[in-house]
Amino acid sequence: MKSIVILSLLFVLVAGSVSWSAGRDLFVAKCGECHKKGGSAVVINPADKAAVVWKKYFKRRRHPVDFSSSISDGQLEEILKYLEEHAADSDQPAEAVIPK
Ligand code: HEC
Repeated sequence: MKSIVILSLLFVLVAGSVSWSAGRDLFVAKCGECHKKGGSAVVINPADKAAVVWKKYFKRRRHPVDFSSSISDGQLEEILKYLEEHAADSDQPAEAVIPK
């Protein structure tokens, strides 16, 4: 019985960290394709904006370039989750996931 509890705790921990890195990897791979040093757009990072600002930015479709052919809605959701979790006002702001 005890081991089942420990196993499910481990599972939650592992699953949590996997989804965290999936959003991060997607952000770096997909957004970073343009948003990088020497790329076609400015370097961006989660800590550039507060969580609510990230949410509104994509909800209101403020992004100047249409990337729907390379980033699916599901992937954008995953990326957005990562951006919010590491935004300027989060517990773990990420300032240089994409090197400046
Ligand atoms: C096809 C290339 C491309 C992709 C992919 C792309 N962007 Fe952009 N993005 C641009 C361009 C071009 C601009 C406007 C010019 C600039 O800010 O350098 C821009 C502007 C922005 C801005 C405003 C920058 C500012 O400081 O005002 C943000 C924020 C942004 N993008 C976030 C993202 C995020 C998050 C992703 C991934 C989900 C992403 N972009 C994917 C090309 C891209």
